[in-house]
Amino acid sequence: MNMGSLPEGSAVARLQEWRLQAMGAAQAAGIPREEVDILLREKLGWGPLQRLMGQAPVVKLGEQDSAWDWDPLEEVQVLWQRRLEERIPLQYLLGQVEWAGLSLQLTPAVLIPRPETELLVEQASVWLQANPLPQGSYFVDLGTGSGALAIALARQHPDLRLLAVDSSPEALRVAAANVAAHTLEKRVQLLSGSWFVPLDPWRNRLRGLLSNPPYIPSSEISNLMPEVSWHEPQQALDGGPDGLDALRVLIQRAPEYLAPNSFWAVEVMQGQACWVVEQLQALGCYQQIQVHADLAGIERVVSAHFMPSS
Ligand SMILES: C[S@@+](CC[C@H](N)C(=O)[O-])C[C@H]1O[C@@H](n2cnc3c(N)ncnc32)[C@H](O)[C@@H]1O
Repeated sequence: MNMGSLPEGSAVARLQEWRLQAMGAAQAAGIPREEVDILLREKLGWGPLQRLMGQAPVVKLGEQDSAWDWDPLEEVQVLWQRRLEERIPLQYLLGQVEWAGLSLQLTPAVLIPRPETELLVEQASVWLQANPLPQGSYFVDLGTGSGALAIALARQHPDLRLLAVDSSPEALRVAAANVAAHTLEKRVQLLSGSWFVPLDPWRNRLRGLLSNPPYIPSSEISNLMPEVSWHEPQQALDGGPDGLDALRVLIQRAPEYLAPNSFWAVEVMQGQACWVVEQLQALGCYQQIQVHADLAGIERVVSAHFMPSS
């Protein structure tokens, strides 16, 4: 690889001009303006410092290319056009996301991890601090997608082992890449199948269950933002007619797989927390049932302590 620089003045002026135009287009389309800067930073390494100092991006060249042929805006413009016209989320265009302090690879086969989902990791960590477990104890992340929850929890708790289940083989390929990128292959085990089906060897042995399941009622999916309804996997969104299909399974089947004195927590959609609490109470084997609000004040996570009486 050669490295070359562009003639400073012209490239910087064009970038500045393009940046302002793109921000105007973002605003008109209802897209956060910050995405323009994220795109320039991720694709060209052109961030606030370079802008302030009037520096042009540095180009990495293949053997046959020449620095003078390189147009820094070419690829960026194509991506930005797709962002505006096709409403493809920036994270899919870049193939990555920063979440809970982790850098994760993404493809449209997996849900883009949301900031509010960090609440699940936070609550699991609070529980683990209050209830220290023997080394090698297992937690499961059901519907792991990119592997975000399993990876975040494994990194925060070096003694814990994680099982990460998904029914989508494409999602599991993304999760495998992320697990490898964080060198967690020895502690995060990926399992293919529907919810508890691949967990037979861990019956009554799991010390924690986390899940951000699909919970949107089928009929509401087409009303979501195009970024979500057109591009995120249906399998990650669709919770069936009332949105509760997956939650029912997670509530009803968990007692067969959890060991006594374990942690259970799921993410829910606005308005579902109360129903989940009632179902857990009715089972009679959960204590300390709690609802946790996200930063927007929405009841987002329900957690409980699995403690059967016999
Ligand atoms: C809302 S996404 C959550 C992804 C990831 N945990 C996150 O929070 O970003 C739900 C995930 O559940 C998976 N899923 C859907 N149905 C499933 C099933 N029957 N068994 C296992 N996983 C399933 C989807 O493929 C998707 O990856």
